[in-house]
Amino acid sequence: MNIFSEVHTIREQSRAWKRQGLRVGFVPTMGYLHEGHLSLIECALQHSDRVIVSIFVNPTQFAPDEDLDRYPRDHEGDIKKITDAGAAACFLPPVEALYPEGAQTFVEVKELTRALCGVERPTHFRGVATVVAKLFHIVLPDVAVFGKKDYQQLVTIQRMVRDLLMEVEVIGAPIVREEDGLAMSSRNVYLSDVQREDARALNQALKLARQAFASGERAPAALLDVVRGQLSGREHLRPGYVELRDSFALHTAQEPLDGTERVFVSAYLGQTRLIDNAPLSGECSLPES
Ligand code: PAF
Repeated sequence: MNIFSEVHTIREQSRAWKRQGLRVGFVPTMGYLHEGHLSLIECALQHSDRVIVSIFVNPTQFAPDEDLDRYPRDHEGDIKKITDAGAAACFLPPVEALYPEGAQTFVEVKELTRALCGVERPTHFRGVATVVAKLFHIVLPDVAVFGKKDYQQLVTIQRMVRDLLMEVEVIGAPIVREEDGLAMSSRNVYLSDVQREDARALNQALKLARQAFASGERAPAALLDVVRGQLSGREHLRPGYVELRDSFALHTAQEPLDGTERVFVSAYLGQTRLIDNAPLSGECSLPES
């Protein structure tokens, strides 16, 4: 596996593979890789001939009071995991390579980023869309894979690709969970034991909403009450948003519900903010028991 840190060398590698008729897959990450990231690489391998993984903790998607400086990093461990997972190249650029001195161009996807995480992190998606657009221009992927845990990010990137006429297929991969159902996230490492215990309520709440839907509950307010009930009264968890939205435009879900709508939750455990989501019915990675 080759490691690249310069824009022109990784771009040249990608072009060389394309000249050979190979399909290039891409998994952008911020590093500190876990099983969830490895599943994205596996998905990319299924859809392409050569997979490039980027590791870049993108400063523009963090607000000044967020965890940019303490975001967990482990380049050595990450490179081993990426190699073992079968990726062909890793792109590990310095900040100046992606944000040259004086950079003043940003990509903004408007409506999709106003709700949910966009309310709690108003500048976040502008940073994400901007860095992903830059990475796509550098890596020139035929296909890129994003996890459904960051569902709003996935649909935002799909929208950006359509709006900017980019030639890349964007695939959403299922959420990977710990044994107790907690969605895998690099930020789980911040949780103390008691916070970790309360964090399980997120996926339990989603599961209860699915069970209520399966039992015939069709009123959005009642389904959301089930979720709020599961998240409330926990010493170490402060609920953020609890919403039911359609899975495509992320509009507030309207009756009659057909099960494709998703429940979205966020919660704070101390300083750590976690998110999760699941559709009311069908495609889902929640453990059944
Ligand atoms: O999901 C992430 O890890 C990041 O938001 C991404 C897509 C790598 C952009 O920095």
